[in-house]
Amino acid sequence: MLNPHFRYSAFLVSFLSCWFLLQVFWFPSTKTNNPVPKPQYPAATTTVSAVTATTKCNGRVSVYVYNLPAEFNLGLLEDCSHLNVYTNMCPHVANHGLGQPLNNMDHGSTDSNPNPWFATHQFIAEMIFHARVENHPCRTWDPSEANLFYVPFYGGLHVSSKFREANHTIRDALAVRLADYLQSQPTWRNNHGKDHFIALGRTSWDFMRTDSGPDFGANCLLNLPCVKNMSVLTVERNPWKGINQHGIPYPSYFHPSTSHQMLTWQNMMRQSNRPHLFSFIGAPRKGVDKAAIRDEMIKQCGESSRCKLVKCDRGNPKCYDPAEILGVMRESQFCLQAPGDSFTRRSTFDSILSGCIPVFFSRHTAYTQYAWFLPPEESKYSVYMDEQGDESKRIEEELLKIPKEEVERMRARVIDMIPRLTYVHPNASDIGFEDAVDVALEALAKHVRDKIQDDNNNAAIAESM
Ligand SMILES: *[C@@H]1O[C@H](CO)[C@@H](O)[C@H](O)[C@H]1NC(C)=O
Ligand SMILES: *[C@@H]1O[C@H](CO)[C@@H](O)[C@H](O)[C@H]1NC(C)=O
Ligand SMILES: *[C@@H]1O[C@H](CO)[C@@H](O)[C@H](O)[C@H]1NC(C)=O
Repeated sequence: MLNPHFRYSAFLVSFLSCWFLLQVFWFPSTKTNNPVPKPQYPAATTTVSAVTATTKCNGRVSVYVYNLPAEFNLGLLEDCSHLNVYTNMCPHVANHGLGQPLNNMDHGSTDSNPNPWFATHQFIAEMIFHARVENHPCRTWDPSEANLFYVPFYGGLHVSSKFREANHTIRDALAVRLADYLQSQPTWRNNHGKDHFIALGRTSWDFMRTDSGPDFGANCLLNLPCVKNMSVLTVERNPWKGINQHGIPYPSYFHPSTSHQMLTWQNMMRQSNRPHLFSFIGAPRKGVDKAAIRDEMIKQCGESSRCKLVKCDRGNPKCYDPAEILGVMRESQFCLQAPGDSFTRRSTFDSILSGCIPVFFSRHTAYTQYAWFLPPEESKYSVYMDEQGDESKRIEEELLKIPKEEVERMRARVIDMIPRLTYVHPNASDIGFEDAVDVALEALAKHVRDKIQDDNNNAAIAESM
């Protein structure tokens, strides 16, 4: 088992060199001349089912949104050029976090209004989540009716503005003020915050500073006692210590407003020509444990005529060209997902959106992260190759062993997974399928109900003894 701190240090060591890759955007490069194609596979009835507001909430989800002082969310955006020490976030926080519209996308249909494609930043889920919940049919304005209390803190944007702040007191100050604010609320006291949650667009490592570990700019948010009573949604949970952490998808670039836009895209991905057996898009890593597996992937991919390699060192311009990156994914059957700078990668979600079957090398890249979103049978939608296993094992040979029919079944499954992993446009209402926010709220409501019930039972047992 690799030490998470070591992982995290690797994250920062290679942070600058791969920052641009991390933000690569997607414009599929190929044009389909066909009219909207018929699905090759029977359209799964679960893909898009008629879910209306009433059946969706139905007393199960009733979410109250705290009206926080502006310093915890919208106020932070006023200084958007300093929100991240590496990049100007102003273009990325536009449109409630969707970012800038992409105008040269292949929509595959005339139904491109409103435009569902945006150059969405990988670490911006907290803003999109907020915008979605504000406009969600299960939102309530009456705290006495609510079973979930959402604390819309832009903690990820805030922490990345303080990465270079040496003084821990200053770095932690806003998180500490949030804790004070929450505990002064009458709505907090009913359940000691057990029915409260926050959603964070960055990985949990950014909020779990330990005094023993090296200091990489993280704050103490997730170690605060009151936050430990809450549920924390994050794009990467700590698989060992994150018992109250739940993985949510990284946002990709597709934010449809209608189920027709979703169905059209899924059909296009079913029809897509995939001449490459597999592909790898990424940079070599220097001097860390991941270097070995990455170098091996680059070597094997480079040597195989069946692999499409996009090597992202020395500022390869293709790696900054979304058309290239996503164009490659939709022309590939399998997409290698080497652990990135931390365990998870946004690229996993780009790959699924492209109908490219992900190949994982760590269980923490997806399986231990996104339990609410991914089907339980891992082998039905992905391939797992043990990182610690025999490195001379040929990736190509392993993939070629999978029968063609099985590959097709897996791809069909991957494409069926797209809606639940998508953040639909926050202005959309009654879109007709469950997106990432719907799935998260439903799962969270059940989780909170069970947790409060357990606590009450335990209290009753303690009293009777
Ligand atoms: C949502 O609709 C409002 C009002 O029509 C508009 O001002 C806003 O820009 C829209 N949001 C996005 C993200 O397009
Ligand atoms: C950190 O900042 C706080 C608040 O401004 C200040 O009181 C403290 O002395 C600073 N600590 C160090 C080590 O500079
Ligand atoms: C967390 O919950 C426990 C009950 O399980 C409660 O005793 C404690 O005061 C809560 N902590 C905070 C900071 O509210």
